[in-house]
Amino acid sequence: MTDPFGRSIDYLRISVTDRCNERCLYCMPEGYKGWAKRTDHLTAAQLIAVARAASRLGFTKFRLTGGEPLLRDDLLEIAQGIGALENLHSLGLSTNGTRLAPLAAALAAAGVRSANISLDALDPVAYRRITGGRLDEVLAGIDAALAHGLFVKLNTVLMRGENEHELPALVRFASARRIPIRFIELMPLTRTDVLTPANFLSLPDTRAILESALGPLAPLPDYRAGHGPARYHEGRDLPGSRIGFIGALSEQDFCATCNKLRLTADGKLRPCLGRHGELDLAAALATGQLDAAITEAIAQKPEKHEFLENYAPDRPMTAIGG
Ligand code: 5AD
Ligand code: SF4
Repeated sequence: MTDPFGRSIDYLRISVTDRCNERCLYCMPEGYKGWAKRTDHLTAAQLIAVARAASRLGFTKFRLTGGEPLLRDDLLEIAQGIGALENLHSLGLSTNGTRLAPLAAALAAAGVRSANISLDALDPVAYRRITGGRLDEVLAGIDAALAHGLFVKLNTVLMRGENEHELPALVRFASARRIPIRFIELMPLTRTDVLTPANFLSLPDTRAILESALGPLAPLPDYRAGHGPARYHEGRDLPGSRIGFIGALSEQDFCATCNKLRLTADGKLRPCLGRHGELDLAAALATGQLDAAITEAIAQKPEKHEFLENYAPDRPMTAIGG
């Protein structure tokens, strides 16, 4: 399907829960406890019904997100349902990795092909400061995902003063394992005032930090890993490295290649992460008119996010879906 700005929309990101077992500074440091009731969440059958309707309309790429998707105990059932769709091109998972080690084999068997794993630091103390969690669990999760044949990408949110000293080591870590790593500029996605000039680390500054430690980075304009907005580079002295940059704030044409819709765990279609506006699926789920709702959400896609226009999120990222 094509949106009003000529972009082809074929990627649905499905949040299966707003809950998380970490408390990342840039996401929900305030200890957001999630919705009061699990009954606010769509059931596995409802999530699969939405994915099936999207698939009929031409969506071929799906991703399970949260919150932390591995907290949902029927995640395998959801993955199997989506993994069995016809014309499926990819089924991925975005996770903090802490619970991945024991589940990687079952997820791969259920049809999950790739995992985007958050890794903001390699120093356990810095990791805990940023996320509240345990680095060793995440590293075990990465190993398990690779061992079970999942395509792994690492995500690092950039925060000056928190992880700028970690960035070269993160690149070396990824490069040694032949996996892409993506550095993500901080976005205004939480209700706390974390996105301050003191915390914001831009992509140009990040690149300078990396080049001074690792040597020059060469752009790879044609390289894609998955379906996200990253622009990749290769370190001249790290052959095979894939270093991606995602700059919603500093890149002018960031939205030009947008290809996605989001489904929140409480059943709203969200045309844009960085703009208010959601379409409630409750009625469509009750009547089965999901195709019309998805078509309408695509028609409502804005040309650009509003992150640079004093955008203040109406709900934290964890309740929208990563
Ligand atoms: N800014 C940028 N990225 C964020 N993420 C979560 N919150 C923010 C934010 N405020 C990222 C996480 C995760 C992905 C799902 O979204 O790092 O990798
Ligand atoms: Fe949890 Fe991910 Fe948010 Fe961190 S970024 S608190 S891991 S949902």
